[in-house]
Amino acid sequence: MSHESPASRKDLLDIASLEREEIEFLLETAKPFKDLVSRSVKMVPTLRGRTVLNLFYEPSTRTRSSFEIAAKRLSADVINFTVSTSSVTKGESVLDTIETLQAMRADYLVVRHQMAGIPSFVAKHTGASVLNAGDGYHAHPTQALLDAYTLREIYPDLTGKRVVICGDILHSRVARSTSTILEKLGAEVGLLGPGSLVPRHCAKRFKVFRTWDEVFAWEPDVVYLLRVQFERQKAQFFPGVSEYHREFGVTDERLETIQERGLYVMHPGPINRGVELTDDVTRYERCLINQQVENGIPTRMAAMYWLKPETADRR
Ligand code: CP
Repeated sequence: MSHESPASRKDLLDIASLEREEIEFLLETAKPFKDLVSRSVKMVPTLRGRTVLNLFYEPSTRTRSSFEIAAKRLSADVINFTVSTSSVTKGESVLDTIETLQAMRADYLVVRHQMAGIPSFVAKHTGASVLNAGDGYHAHPTQALLDAYTLREIYPDLTGKRVVICGDILHSRVARSTSTILEKLGAEVGLLGPGSLVPRHCAKRFKVFRTWDEVFAWEPDVVYLLRVQFERQKAQFFPGVSEYHREFGVTDERLETIQERGLYVMHPGPINRGVELTDDVTRYERCLINQQVENGIPTRMAAMYWLKPETADRR
């Protein structure tokens, strides 16, 4: 497959609208950016003179800091807009905030919001490139890119590889974006979770399992665990945390099976120990959580490298 540069887009809002050649290009472009880490000077001048604004309406550890490091390695100026200490707390609307920030001439807006569709709304009202850093249940495209990159370091061709995504599928933008990128790259995706947390329509697209026995019988290559998103749940979706752990978590016994079979384990973070996994899972040699975090930087550098803000012409 050729990795010639596909035409740049202005925004990165989801994975569903990306063509496979665009995904391949982003994953290939991330490779030399990852190699920068081993150099004494870890920066390139690609975005010198440009400004990246991190606009996070929801908490984040990994995504916000990863975008900040990625932008700085590309030599951009970075501004972190902290919603809790901004005029948003005085009732300022998203659009008014964006218009105000536009006057400061940002070239890239990295937007996380609890409501699905806000990054797309922002993108329509600004010449800056908008990167969706997670919107409600909808999408988390850079998480999907770093997940695909991490898996392709192990399996250069994902065709036919089996990945089971386990947990709170209903509330997970990661499940939506990562399952989509895996499908586009030829992997097979299965889902495991309580019936109340796996939307019924998923069965039309993916294998849906109800138990770990069914999952192990399917012989997956990778187990991708999700956090239960209690903060997004407006009802009780299962009897309790200990029952959830017993039925759907990676217990010590299930970890033994995973180890015997040499399966890889992934998780987007933050993890909840004692719910979807145990401490021992994080110490398992094929647990890829730290590699995922590490790969967030080069994949986000690749995304900013590829996007073309409409502000570029005014310089
Ligand atoms: N994976 C992820 O989005 O983590 P944060 O919420 O810490 O950014």
